[in-house]
Amino acid sequence: MRSLRGKTAVITGAASGIGRALAYRLAREKMRLVLADLDGRRLREVASGLPGALAIRTDVSRAADVESLAAKAYARFGAVHLLCNNAGVAEHGAVWEVPLARWKRVIGTNLWGVIHGCVAFVPRMLAQRSPGHVVNTASMAGLVTPPLAGPYSATKHAVVAISEALAQDLALRRARIGVSVLCPGFVATRLLHSAPGADPVVRALVAQGVSPDAIADRTVRAVRSDEFYVITHPEMASAVRRRTEEILAGRAPAASALRPRRSRAASR
Ligand SMILES: NC(=O)c1ccc[n+]([C@@H]2O[C@H](COP(=O)([O-])OP(=O)(O)OC[C@H]3O[C@@H](n4cnc5c(N)ncnc54)[C@H](O)[C@@H]3O)[C@@H](O)[C@H]2O)c1
Repeated sequence: MRSLRGKTAVITGAASGIGRALAYRLAREKMRLVLADLDGRRLREVASGLPGALAIRTDVSRAADVESLAAKAYARFGAVHLLCNNAGVAEHGAVWEVPLARWKRVIGTNLWGVIHGCVAFVPRMLAQRSPGHVVNTASMAGLVTPPLAGPYSATKHAVVAISEALAQDLALRRARIGVSVLCPGFVATRLLHSAPGADPVVRALVAQGVSPDAIADRTVRAVRSDEFYVITHPEMASAVRRRTEEILAGRAPAASALRPRRSRAASR
């Protein structure tokens, strides 16, 4: 979708981090904004800096909330051209140690959130018959599987799979809706606030990660050029190659999948 000006974007998880940066970046493109987040207070703060933005407190893990978000977005703006299914939470721990309630929370937000977004918005976007784009925020943890992050990785691999399926399903229908799956490495956001037990090494890597603004810039480029896999940390791409080689050779994964060789992540 080359032209963004005057079109409408919906961003989930817009109150912080990547979603917040996207909101400000898309405002610079003169898009009309619908901002959604579970954290109503932070959402109001972000929206107060973006005149004209519609802010709707939404729990993406609840189908009714996302359906209501779509209804309100269409009632206000009449169309949605860019859907950013971005809300997410982190989870840390060995597969068997993470309590079931926390497995359910991370699956509810990261996986059901994306499913609810697609089911509520894509039929409406198809009916509009104008060009559109869906950006699903996965992670490098959706392309490789780091240790001690099984629940998180499970959701992000699923988001990559849903995005791959969505792109093909839309192409089969000859829809003018592009799809991107955003796969960042470490980004300096509040993400680990949702995972208090996170590994200190990972915590440090996130704190030193690239800025959410750089990820937002990269996302806008991907939407404009209809890029599917959006790899924001090219220095981590070797981990994807290693995983593919391990699959083809039948080897077990090495337990260091995402530890970068260079300490500073960079976006291209
Ligand atoms: N920060 C990183 O290193 C990194 C790396 C790869 C992928 N990601 C992904 O980027 C996305 C954005 O995360 P971030 O890093 O900006 O973190 P963040 O914590 O700064 O922002 C996430 C936002 O999602 C909101 N949210 C959480 N649960 C929600 C729910 N049920 N409904 C609606 N909103 C909800 C939070 O309130 C928060 O405002 C997530 O999907 C995350 O998994 C982050």
